[in-house]
Amino acid sequence: MVHDALNFVVSIILSTMKVTFLGHATIYVEINGKKILFDPFVSPNELAKDIDVDAIEADYIFVSHGHEDHVADVERIAKRTGATIVSNFEIAMWFNAKGCTNYHPMNHGGKWKFDFGTVKYVNAVHSSTLPDGKSGGNPGGFVFETSQGNFYYAGDTALTMDMKLIPLSTKLDFAILPIGDNFTMGVDDAIQAAQFVQVEKVLAMHFDTFGFIRVDHKQAIAKFREADIQLTLLGIGESAEM
Ligand code: NI
Ligand code: MN
Repeated sequence: MVHDALNFVVSIILSTMKVTFLGHATIYVEINGKKILFDPFVSPNELAKDIDVDAIEADYIFVSHGHEDHVADVERIAKRTGATIVSNFEIAMWFNAKGCTNYHPMNHGGKWKFDFGTVKYVNAVHSSTLPDGKSGGNPGGFVFETSQGNFYYAGDTALTMDMKLIPLSTKLDFAILPIGDNFTMGVDDAIQAAQFVQVEKVLAMHFDTFGFIRVDHKQAIAKFREADIQLTLLGIGESAEM
């Protein structure tokens, strides 16, 4: 209890946020007492077999796009927790049709003031077809502005000039970027992305899950360091103060 209170005070003073990596692009963070989950893909992820998907808590589930490796556990967690699914209109309605009745649809360029902070849905260059072949609209990322800090969850994306728009309106504390290459940005483009969005701290995602996206951790960290950017590569289930 004392420890929790101390952590809370420290996180306010240092303006850091405890971020937990649950494998692939699945990220968990608590902001102003709300439990926020991104792109849950745990039960099909062989590397995340030590994570109990039915123990993950969530008030909100943010979904960046429609691919299986981002939506696999959304319905299961949403139905158990009653979490609000936040995604583009097509994906929100797809889950609503499955009986996930708490949802908040967004679309590109739009922002909304939630009870933990403000979120803007921003562009990503990728695709977004849902597992059953239905249209998952266009893929996106999320820019969070909160009293505990500001960050960018990029989703699956290529490096894109649109990223330069983000720091025009938001001073970010860190970014959560894909680094695995092949399906998304690789390390070199992620460094450029970090520079476009003007962050010095990056949490890596979308690496190592499949053979196509294996990353040399030491080399990735060293390359970011050469650009004066701190890259955090967490093991599955590990947390970092960002
Ligand atoms: Ni994808
Ligand atoms: Mn993906």
